[in-house]
Parts: sequence; C-alpha cells; structure tokens
Amino acid sequence: MPISFSAASTDTAIPVHLVKGGRLQDLDLDGSAREWAKAAGFSGDEGEVLLLPGEGGALQGVLFGVSEEMLPLKTLALGALARKLPEGHYRVAGDVAEPELAAIALALGGYCFTRYGKKPTRTLSFALPEGADEKRVEDLATATFLTRDLINTPASDMGPVALEAAAANLASEHGANFNAVRGDALLEQNVPMIHAVGRASDEAPRLIDFTWGRSDAPKVTLVGKGVCFDTGGLDIKPASGMLLMKKDMGGAANVLGLASMLMASKLDIRLRVLIPAVENSISGNAFRPGDILQSRKGLTVEIGNTDAEGRLVLADALALADEEEPEVLIDMATLTGAARVALGPDLPPFYSLDDAFAGEIASASEAVADPLWRMPLWQPYMPKLSSRVADTNNITADGFAGSITAALFLQKFVEKAKSWAHFDVFGWNPVEKPTCPIGGEAQGIRALEQVLRQRYGR
Ligand code: BES
Ligand code: MN
Ligand code: ZN
Repeated sequence: MPISFSAASTDTAIPVHLVKGGRLQDLDLDGSAREWAKAAGFSGDEGEVLLLPGEGGALQGVLFGVSEEMLPLKTLALGALARKLPEGHYRVAGDVAEPELAAIALALGGYCFTRYGKKPTRTLSFALPEGADEKRVEDLATATFLTRDLINTPASDMGPVALEAAAANLASEHGANFNAVRGDALLEQNVPMIHAVGRASDEAPRLIDFTWGRSDAPKVTLVGKGVCFDTGGLDIKPASGMLLMKKDMGGAANVLGLASMLMASKLDIRLRVLIPAVENSISGNAFRPGDILQSRKGLTVEIGNTDAEGRLVLADALALADEEEPEVLIDMATLTGAARVALGPDLPPFYSLDDAFAGEIASASEAVADPLWRMPLWQPYMPKLSSRVADTNNITADGFAGSITAALFLQKFVEKAKSWAHFDVFGWNPVEKPTCPIGGEAQGIRALEQVLRQRYGR
C-alpha cells in the first residue's frame, strides 16, 4: 500500500518492534503484550507479524520477526510491512542498522500497479528512520515505480509510440534534450538493424535519444533494449515463451528508471539515454532467417534466428553511443532466457572487460542490496558467432552459454567507450517479495546509481 514518510513524530506513531532471531525477551514489552504473543503463538519467524492490542482494543504496537543479522539484503524484508499492516502511522522501534535501506524497503513494498483499476485499499505512513535521507528515498522509489509501471503496462498500451512518450515525459521533467528518429529515417541515420527488426509492426520502429547535463561533463551513456513485444518474429516463439514478452522492454524501463535517479540526484555528468524502441512482429515485410543485415558499425550480420532480435537493435544503438567515446557505457536488456537458466530471475548477470568498474558494481550491489553477479566475456567463445557468409551471425549453432555469447555479440560493437558494462536482466518478479509484488521489477539500477554517485556525486 502506498507509503508516505513524515518527519519523526514519534509520540503518536505505533511502534513496530523488530524481533531478532525470535528472541522476544530482548524487547522491552509490558506483561500483557508478552502474554498475548505467547497466546497467539508468535514465534518470530522472518516476516511474521503480530498486532498487539492495547487498552480498549486500540492497536498498541506490532511485532515483526527479522533475521538475527540485519545484513543489507535482510533489511529489505521490512518492505513486507507495507502490505501487512493495517492503515495507520508507524515507526520502526529500536536500532536499525541500515536506516536508509529500511526506508527504501518500506517505500518499495508500498508499490501497487493501478493503471487498470486495481486500487490500494489503504495508506500507511511511517516516521522516517533516523539517518535516512527522505528526498533520496523518494527519488529512488519514484524511479523504481516508473520502471515497474512501464514493464507492467501491456504491449497494447506500451508500444514504441507510448514508450517514446514515456521517455519524452521523463526528459521534459528534468529539462533534458529529447530527440527521436522514426521509421525510414532510421535508414537515413544509419541504424539499419533497428529498422529491420521493427519494420513489420504497425508502430514504426524508433531510436529514442536524450541528453542531460553540462555538455563538457564526463559522458555517461545508457542503452536499453526497448522491444515492446517480442513474438520472436518469423522464428516464432511458442505460446509459453511469448506469454510474458510485454516485458521485453525491461532494459529500456530500467534505463529510464536509472536516468530518473541520476537526474534527480543531479550528478555532474553529461547523461545520454539511447533506446531502440521496436516491436518484433510478423508481417510480409518482416526480416527473415537467413537475411544478412548491414549494421551501423559496418559489420554484416547473418540472421540465424529472428528471435535473437534484442542484440541487433542494441548493436546499432551501442555503435552509435560508442562513437562519442563515453567514459561509462551501460546497456541493460532482457536479452536471453539463458541468463535466467544460469542465475535465476533474481540475480542478473553483468559483463565488463573493465575489472575495476566490475569491482565497483559488485560492491555497490552488495552495499545497497541490489543483487548482480559478474559473468565472463569469455573470448574463446567468440568464434562460435562466426558466419560462412557474413562478418558475424546473430546466434551460435550449439546454444551453449547463451547469455555469454549474446554479450560477446554486443562486444563486437563497442570499441572506444572507456568502461562498458552489459546487464542481462529478467525484469520480472515471478514470486511475491517483501519489496515487490509479482510483476515488472527494476534490477541493478539502485546499485548503478550508487556506483555513479560515488564517481560523480557533487
Ligand atoms: N527477449 C528474449 C529473451 C528472454 C526470454 C528474456 C525469456 C527473458 C525471458 C530474446 O529476444 C530471445 O528471444 N532470446 C533468445 C535467443 C536465442 C534465439 C539465441 C533466447 O534466449 O532463447
Ligand atoms: Mn527474442
Ligand atoms: Zn527479445
């Protein structure tokens, strides 16, 4: 349920007592509360909630089971309070090791996708945990909710046109310079693979491009896969594989969320966001298996499978981004099913040839409890992408190491950027979590915001 924070007015707030490792005896509770906990069979398991009645039946307090060690990831468990508590004004009682992360967890747990009529049943407010920066917490939640809303919106209402409108809206909120190249102009502007993948749709393919910040600040460029629906093209997906493919613009949605965070915290960067927005559809003019595409970079690409479309649109966008030699180049994409096979839906793999940059990402990921795992750009697999007739194929023949070989394909289009990292995200939360209901999910962007704030914060 939507959460708001109020400046720590602790006297009227209902205390939420964190019960660590089930040890009720550590808490300063009155005798009747203790008796009630016993009678109700409260054992203090992680996430367990018990409401404590006070005199006259009023809500006097809440017990909430947490784990023994409040590591960053465990702190996210507090998000469950947003959905488990009745309407009211609360405070988290006692010491919280990570107050800002606790506030973020509460805020994220309050997410609700309301566009199609489902409405939250109540609102909760919390006293801001001491030590948390309210603006920052709100900025991170706003950005995360943008990402989730974009992914949750079905393709009928989030095609290339609507995705462009969402990006334009974000750009104008922050005074960024917005541009989009649409339809046949993609050929004139020499991003032919974006055109080829998207041309079979009724909504013209497009390249969204906006920039923000001082023009001579360090260049940070974000590229997001904006496949608004992925049918697989002519190598059509089976029904089970197509069901969730409204989320195939999850990379774009994450990149927009990250851009929102970076602009809100006013980092001293020249930010550029590039989103190839297309629908991988089927029609008489669809690109075909066996076609050979020209790319912006000049490499010819043989199409082994039209379902490996994300890497094609990203390749042209990455080549364009790379031309201005950004200091940081980040791309995010729901690129392969293989990433989920390797690491599951909650732990996106990332790839970088820059060990120092990868190290910064890994430690930020741990610090802010935004899971990411580095995987190798294993160069010995590069020859698997070779083609007998073109400079490269878009797939490998054996299908092994699918997330790695997709990343290796992208690597062919990045040469000059100082630090490049690629994120193969799932973009979807398949099981309810304390901080997120089932549905679209932001992945890795709080970690990336932390990396970039440490580098470029004012
Ligand atoms: N959008 C899919 C990848 C995907 C599928 C991500 C399911 C998350 C969940 C991508 O365009 C795709 O279809 N990839 C193929 C590549 C294959 C044809 C080499 C895949 O992963 O099967
Ligand atoms: Mn596909
Ligand atoms: Zn796709």
